[in-house]
Order: sequence, then structure tokens, then C-alpha cells
Amino acid sequence: MTRTPLIFAAGVFYPGGEHITGWRSPAAEPTAYLDIDYYTRFAQTAEAGRFATLFLADELYVWDRFRSGIDHGVNVRLEPFTLLSALSQVTSRIGLAATVSTTYNEPYHAARKLASLDHLSAGRAAWNLVTSASDEEARNFGREAHLEHATRYRRGAEFVEVVNGLWDSWDDDAFVFDKRSGRFADRSKLHVLDHRGDHFAVRGPLNIPRPVQGHPPLFQAGASEAGRDLAGRTADAVFTLGGGDLAGGRAQYDDYKRRAVAAGRTGDDLSVLPWFSPIIGATAAEAEERFRELARLTPDRVQVDLLSHYLGHDLGDRDLDGPFDFEFDLDSFNQSKSGYAAIQSLSAQGSFTIRELAWEVLRRRFTLGTPDTLAAHLIEQYEQRAADGFILMAPTLPDTLEAFVGEIVPRLTDHGIYPAEYEGDTLRDHLGLARPRGRYAA
Ligand SMILES: Cc1cc2nc3c(=O)[nH]c(=O)nc-3n(C[C@H](O)[C@H](O)[C@H](O)COP(=O)(O)O)c2cc1C
Repeated sequence: MTRTPLIFAAGVFYPGGEHITGWRSPAAEPTAYLDIDYYTRFAQTAEAGRFATLFLADELYVWDRFRSGIDHGVNVRLEPFTLLSALSQVTSRIGLAATVSTTYNEPYHAARKLASLDHLSAGRAAWNLVTSASDEEARNFGREAHLEHATRYRRGAEFVEVVNGLWDSWDDDAFVFDKRSGRFADRSKLHVLDHRGDHFAVRGPLNIPRPVQGHPPLFQAGASEAGRDLAGRTADAVFTLGGGDLAGGRAQYDDYKRRAVAAGRTGDDLSVLPWFSPIIGATAAEAEERFRELARLTPDRVQVDLLSHYLGHDLGDRDLDGPFDFEFDLDSFNQSKSGYAAIQSLSAQGSFTIRELAWEVLRRRFTLGTPDTLAAHLIEQYEQRAADGFILMAPTLPDTLEAFVGEIVPRLTDHGIYPAEYEGDTLRDHLGLARPRGRYAA
């Protein structure tokens, strides 16, 4: 079987880019953040670059744990399904992926919204499953503390089972619409799920026909043991933080593929899409200068507060130029375990002050280079099987996406690993995935 060509997803974390103060960069348009034209331009640029999908990140709270969250950069954004529905009408090929928290949603809601978006977009909907990470989110949904890590992943797994079951409520040909006889739907093609599990009791059926794609693709980004396991069993693509160098990337790639196989699937059923956050310059020196410019727009305080957030521990009252001597305890930590473990391993690589470590965490998110060196990096990662594609998390928008599509995409197409045209119509087509049959279909 030939390998699916390189896959790109275009992520929007903050509207001004993935970097928290990206909104201050020269090309950013912070006053346009609620403006459909701003997102239309983003979506159409990504579609011109044959991206498989857009992806809208989401969180269910305002980051006010630290003052800098409000003073310098805050996580306000449009609700993903609302925005993607609008974008479905100004695009025709690109996938539309919404983030769904399985901790603070019910599966019936999610199945219905995804099916609706899939019908409105003629087969381009997808979801990014997150289990959420913070107590702030819990407090918006009637709890004081976030669900415990293992429990929230078990709930996430059951959530997927229920959503998939609800999507199969109706066979593909259940609706007859026969005006003459008055027959609307064929009763024998309707299936009642009657799910009763540890976290959900859902009778069904779903009140919308089976999605165009059967099951809209499932993306995931949890990278802890529990997160990887769930991805191996259920995800169509996984967003990873990459494994560092090529050997690390390959090991991580193999790990996900192994988990898919262990779950009775094939390695090809799960695409591995590492994080790619490029800072693009005409020369290496120009890329370095762009990084410095971005750093100048970021107060130290913001970086230190972010580090405090990732660690679930406020470092702000310590001497920032004193040594970083934090006691890690991964087992009891209840936010993102993989992010926490990554900081633990980074801090063990040298002796850092708090301020230095905060900046090093930022620096490691980016890949700096020219269009030639960045394209060569992507080609190597794909060809050496450290990646099936990438999740482009542009540090600044809209300029980074435009530069990527204008300068890097043509190099990948010329190299023969990236399509010159979209080949199929649905997102499943772009991901090289067959359409699943309904579970009750003969
Ligand atoms: C590319 C990417 C995008 C992500 N988007 C979101 C998001 O939109 N919302 C969210 O709560 N977490 C998001 N995450 C975080 C993960 O989904 C996951 O919640 C986190 O890593 C904690 O999982 P863990 O404990 O399994 O490590 C994202 C992670 C990555 C790498």
C-alpha cells in the first residue's frame, strides 16, 4: 500500500498565534478576533496550501490564575462549532476540527454537533478530544477540582464509545422521504444504543442522520501514558510535542503505531502529527532576529507565570535569578502530565535559573530556519518516519501561515511528498481513511 502523502493541520490556539503575546507582533490584528473575515482569510489561506484540516483549540475558562494572564495575554476566543459552521460556508475542501472536552460535555451533545457540522460541510468535520487540564475549568461546571487524571481518561474512552454508537443510530439509507406513501424513515434501519456505563447512560437514538463521513475523524493530543493509550485505541490522528531529535521522534512515532497495533488496528489507522511552530527568515540570522523580536514583546513575568502554570506551582515570589530547584511529583500532579514531565526532563539537562528555564521552555517550542532548511527538516521527519504530517501551530498569525503556504509548501510539493491538489472531497479522504460502515449494517 502506498503511504498517505504528508498531512498538515493548521491550528489556532490564540487568535493571534500560538505564542501568548503573538497578538503584539507587527502583523497581528488583535481587534479582528471576533471578525469572521479574519478567520475566513486564515481558512482560505490554509485551503490554498492544501491543508487537510483546520483545528481550533479550546479551553473552558479565562486564565486569571496569574495577573499576567489578564494584563498581557488572555485566552478569549470564539466557540469552535459556531465559528467552524460559518467557515464551512466559505471553504470547500479543508477539514474543520473542533476541540471537545470529554470532561465537561455530554456525548449526546458532541455527537449531534459533529454530525451537524459534518452535514453542513459535506463531510469535513472532525473533533480534537481533550480531557481538559485545570481546576479553573472544573469551577465553571459545578466542581471545585478537576477530575482525577485516570478517571478523566476513562470517561474520555467511554465518551468516544458512546459518540461512535450514536452516529450509527441510523443506517445510511434509513431515510426514505417518500411523499407518496407518507413514509419518512425505515424503522428497521433505526438502532437504539441503550448505553449504560460507568460515566454515561445514553439511550439514543441520535436525532440526526448518520454523518457524511460515517464517523468524523478523531484527533487527540494527550501524551501521558493514559493519553497515548487512548490515542492508540481510538484516534485517527494524534498531535504530539515531537520527540526532540530525529531518533526521539522516531521512537515516539513507533510508540504510537505500536499502541494502535496492540489495540487491533493497523499503524496506518493512526497518523502521527508532531507540533511544528516555525519562525521563518530569509536567512538564519533573520529567523533568529524574529525570535528575539517575539521575545522582546513578551514580559519575563508572562514566561515565568506560564512555567508556574505548567508546574501547578507559583514560582513568582521566588528570586527569578536563583536556581530552579523544584521538587517534581508526577504521580500526584493532575494537570497535563506530559507537559510537566517534559519540563522535568528539560530542567535535568543543565543548571537553570527560574528565568532561564522559563525562556528555554519557550525557545524549545519553535523551529527556526529559512524556507529551505525548514522544508528539509519536514521532509526528513516524514521520510524517516518520525511523522506522517504536522500540526502547524504558527507562533504569530496571520503572517506565519501565509509565509508557510507561500514559501515552504511549494518546496514540499516539488519534492513529491505533498499533493499539488486535493485528491478527495472529505476529511477522511485527506487523511487516507476509509469510511466506516455502520455497526449494524449487514
Ligand atoms: C497541538 C496540541 C493542541 C492541544 N490543544 C488543546 C486544546 O485545545 N485544549 C486543551 O485543553 N488541551 C489541548 N492540548 C493539550 C492536550 O490535549 C492534553 O490535554 C494535555 O497534553 C494533557 O494530557 P496528558 O495529561 O495526557 O499529558 C493540546 C496539545 C497539543 C500538543
